[in-house]
Amino acid sequence: MTRLDGAVAIITGGARGMGAATARLLAAQGAAVIVADVLDAAGKALADEIGPRAKYLHLDVSDEDDWRGAAAAAEPRFGPVSGLVNNAGLLDVGTIEDQSLAAFRRVIDVNLQGCWLGMHTMAPQLRRAGGGVIVNISSTAGLTGYAGLGAYVASKWGIRGLTRTAALELGQAGIRVCSIHPGAVRTPMTAGMDESTTTGQPIPRYGEPEEVARLVLFLIADATYSTGSEFVLDGGATAGFGPVLPASDATLDLELVTCPRD
Ligand SMILES: NC(=O)c1ccc[n+]([C@@H]2O[C@H](COP(=O)([O-])OP(=O)(O)OC[C@H]3O[C@@H](n4cnc5c(N)ncnc54)[C@H](O)[C@@H]3O)[C@@H](O)[C@H]2O)c1
Repeated sequence: MTRLDGAVAIITGGARGMGAATARLLAAQGAAVIVADVLDAAGKALADEIGPRAKYLHLDVSDEDDWRGAAAAAEPRFGPVSGLVNNAGLLDVGTIEDQSLAAFRRVIDVNLQGCWLGMHTMAPQLRRAGGGVIVNISSTAGLTGYAGLGAYVASKWGIRGLTRTAALELGQAGIRVCSIHPGAVRTPMTAGMDESTTTGQPIPRYGEPEEVARLVLFLIADATYSTGSEFVLDGGATAGFGPVLPASDATLDLELVTCPRD
């Protein structure tokens, strides 16, 4: 008996990165998984790797018709979806002055509208399943600002607000809704980025997609008293400001302040 026996989960952006790690882990814990993405070859390969309790669906999360199609295809195969992981996302770099409106809208359409459409379309199935869990992948960019990432930041703050609202609206139906706020994680999205930016963190490294997947599993399987809540997974990047003083300097400061004996 595994922890998610009987569960049916759909993971958007499930073909690679955090989504793929999450699909593998939820399947290993007994869930039937629907890997949904626009990367058809990678998504099908992952579903084949996982086995008969996995299915790949082409789903552009910004497209309402695609969502309707996915909802219609998912239920007859495995039964109503009880877990929705709104993970699909994209990043576009550009300052508020320089980014085009088209680029801004595309990020909002995929990251924020995609999350809203996922909940809007799939909530009835979660109700039919008798309840369930929605996990929305936001970011530390949903907790603070990042220069050059205005569209992405706006989308991730939006996900945070939608998560709280959905938790209030769906709680009575036994549906919990939480957001995850990863910091830097090693995936295709961050390939080529400067990993030295993590050296000042309390945990001075990139996170791994499997670490995000384990938090998704925790929220679905174990966090039975959490809803409308934000879960940060960032190596301590947003904990506050450092650095830690060397021990000798700290001792010196303490003596100066507390021991003016002479
Ligand atoms: N990697 C990081 O450091 C990091 C940090 C914080 C948050 N995130 C968020 O985590 C989530 C997963 O990102 P990742 O790092 O695994 O990136 P990734 O680029 O490896 O994976 C993103 C997946 O989303 C899919 N996708 C993109 N547009 C889509 C669309 N319109 N419809 C359906 N699928 C689409 C991509 O094809 C890809 O498979 C994203 O929401 C991202 O914003 C990532």
